[in-house]
Amino acid sequence: MYRSHRNGELRIADINKEVKLCGWVQKSRDLGGMTFLDLRDRYGITQLVFNIESNKELCEQARKLGREFVIQISGTVRERSSKNKNIPTGEIEIEVNSLEVLNSSKTPPFTIEDNTDGGDELRMKYRYLDLRRNPVKENLVLRHKIGLATRNYMNNMEFLEIETPFLIKSTPEGARDFVVPSRMNSGEFYALPQSPQTFKQLLMVSGYDRYFQIVKCFRDEDLRADRQPEFTQIDCEMAFVEQEDILQTFEGLIKNLFSEVKGIKLSEVERMTYAEAMRDYGSDKPDTRFGMKFNYITDVAKGKDFKIFDEAESIIAINVEGGNSLTRKQIDKITDYVKTPQVGAKGLIYSRINEDGSFKSSVDKFFNQEELAKWAEACDSKPGDLIFVLSGDEASTQSQMNDLRLHLGNLFELRDPDTFNPLWVLDFPLLEWDEDSNRFHAMHHPFTSPKKEDFHLLESDPGKVRANAYDLVINGVEIGGGSIRIHDRDIQSRMFDLLGFTKEEAEAQFGFLMSAFEYGAPPHGGIAFGFDRICSIFGGSESIRDYIAFPKNNSGRDVMIDAPAKVDNQQLDELSLKLNLKA
Ligand code: AMO
Repeated sequence: MYRSHRNGELRIADINKEVKLCGWVQKSRDLGGMTFLDLRDRYGITQLVFNIESNKELCEQARKLGREFVIQISGTVRERSSKNKNIPTGEIEIEVNSLEVLNSSKTPPFTIEDNTDGGDELRMKYRYLDLRRNPVKENLVLRHKIGLATRNYMNNMEFLEIETPFLIKSTPEGARDFVVPSRMNSGEFYALPQSPQTFKQLLMVSGYDRYFQIVKCFRDEDLRADRQPEFTQIDCEMAFVEQEDILQTFEGLIKNLFSEVKGIKLSEVERMTYAEAMRDYGSDKPDTRFGMKFNYITDVAKGKDFKIFDEAESIIAINVEGGNSLTRKQIDKITDYVKTPQVGAKGLIYSRINEDGSFKSSVDKFFNQEELAKWAEACDSKPGDLIFVLSGDEASTQSQMNDLRLHLGNLFELRDPDTFNPLWVLDFPLLEWDEDSNRFHAMHHPFTSPKKEDFHLLESDPGKVRANAYDLVINGVEIGGGSIRIHDRDIQSRMFDLLGFTKEEAEAQFGFLMSAFEYGAPPHGGIAFGFDRICSIFGGSESIRDYIAFPKNNSGRDVMIDAPAKVDNQQLDELSLKLNLKA
C-alpha cells in the first residue's frame, strides 16, 4: 500500500496515528534543528516535520529534497504547536520516521502555488505542471461536478446518452470544418462534426425520443475568450415536443445545475423576443443584470439643423443614473472608447442633467433647453443623470450602443459577478442576409423550422420569417441555442432552395436526412449548451480555457505537444496528398 491517507485528510482526531503519505514536495523550510516540508496531492497539503535530534540522517535527507520531488513517508500524526487556521490539516503535522524518494524533479519553470510567477505561454507549455496548481484543479473539479449533475438530471428525465461519430461529413453550423483525409478512400475527406445535429435528428426518427450527449464539437473559426476550436456541448434532442416543452425541460436543467453545484436557487427564467432584445439592448444576448435600456429619440432629435442627426436613420440614447458625476476627462475617455475600430462610432454626444434640472450638452449650439428636456423625458432621466447619444444606420448604432452600454456597466461595476440572470431569447429570424455571398444564410441552421404564422412570408419576404429558435443567455453570454426542427421532406427541401442550394447539392449533402424524413419522422426539437461556457459562468472567469484541461491558445495551437505539426512525406503519400504551400 503506497499510502494510508491523502494529504487533505488528517485532523486533530487522528493524533498519534501511524500513517503513510505520498505526494509532491511543495516547499521546505529549515528552522535550526527542524526541517518542515509541505507535502501536496490532489486533496490538500500536509506538513511534515523532521527533527535533527531524533534522526539526523533522515533530516539531512529531507533537506536535500527539491521542489516537486515525489516522496513517500511514514510517520506519526502530532498536534502542531503553531496552528494554521487557513488549511483543513492546519492543526496537525507528521513526525516523519522514514522517507523514500519515488522520483526526483527538475526545478519547475514556475512556482506551483495559487499565485504563480509563470506567464500564460509558459504555463501552457508545461500545462501538466499548471494543472497541479490549486485554482486550476478547482476548475476541473467544478467541470466534473457540472458534468455529473447534468448526467443525473438527464438520466432522471429519461434521456439516453448516445454517442455519435466524429468522422462524418460536413454539417453546416456557420463555421469552417476541420477535415480529415481518408487513406482507404483516396482523395476523400471526413469532416469532424461542428455538432451532432443531423445524427441527433436521425435518432429521433429512430424513436429514441429523449437523447443527450456530452460531446466534443470542432469548429475552425476565429478564437476568442469564449471560443475554442474543440469545445464541448451538452447536446440534447426530444421528439413529440413543442418549443414550450423544451424551454421548460432545459430551464429545469439550468436551475438544477445552479442548485446542485452552486447552491443557488434561480428565480424564473425571463423571456424576451429577439426583436425586443435588439430594440432594447442592441444585442441578441443582453446582459440583463443592469438597466440602461435604449431609448429611440429619433423623432425628437431630428430636424434641428444638426447634420449628423438629420442624416441618421436612428438616434439612440441611454440614461446613465448618477452619470453627471462623470468628469469631462472621463467622458473624453468614454468617447475614445466608442471611436476605437472595434466599436466604430464616429463620435459620442452627451447631455448632463444638472441638479437644478437644467441641461448642459455637447451640442448646446443646436439644441435648446426645451429640446434637451425632450431627450430627458424620453430617457426617464432625473437630475444628476447623464444621457449618451449615438446615431447612424439603425443596425450599426444598436451594435455600437450595445458596446457602450457594456463598457459603462463595467465602469460603474453594475455587472455583479454574484448575480445570475438567465434569459430565453425567442423568435429568432429564420434567415439572415449575407452581403458577401449575396444570399440568405440560416441564422441558426438549415434544419430549423419557420414559425407557422410566418409560413406565408417564405416566398414573398423571407427575411421577415421568424423561426422556432431560442437561445439561453446568462449575464450576456450565450450558453445554449436550439430550435424546433423541420420534420417534413418537402419543407426541408424548400428550405434548401431558399438557402441557394441546387437540388443536386441538397441531395448530395443532406439526402440521407431527407430520405429519413420519408420513413416516419416525428415532430422534434432540441438544444445544445456550451459546456465550457457553463463552467466559466459558474466559476466566474471570462475565459473558457481555464476550464479545459488541455486547451489551445489563441492561434489554435497546443504549445505543449506542439500541434498542429507537419507530417512526413510518406504519410502524405499514403493519403494521396501533396503539399502545395504558398510561399
Ligand atoms: P450552436 O452553434 O448555437 O448550436 O452551439 C450551441 C452552443 O455551443 C457553444 N459554442 C461554443 N463554445 C465554445 N467554443 C465554440 N467555438 C463554440 N461554438 C458554440 C455556445 C452555443 O450556444 N446544433 C446546434 C444546437 C441545436 O440546434 O440543438 C448548435 O450547435 O454556448
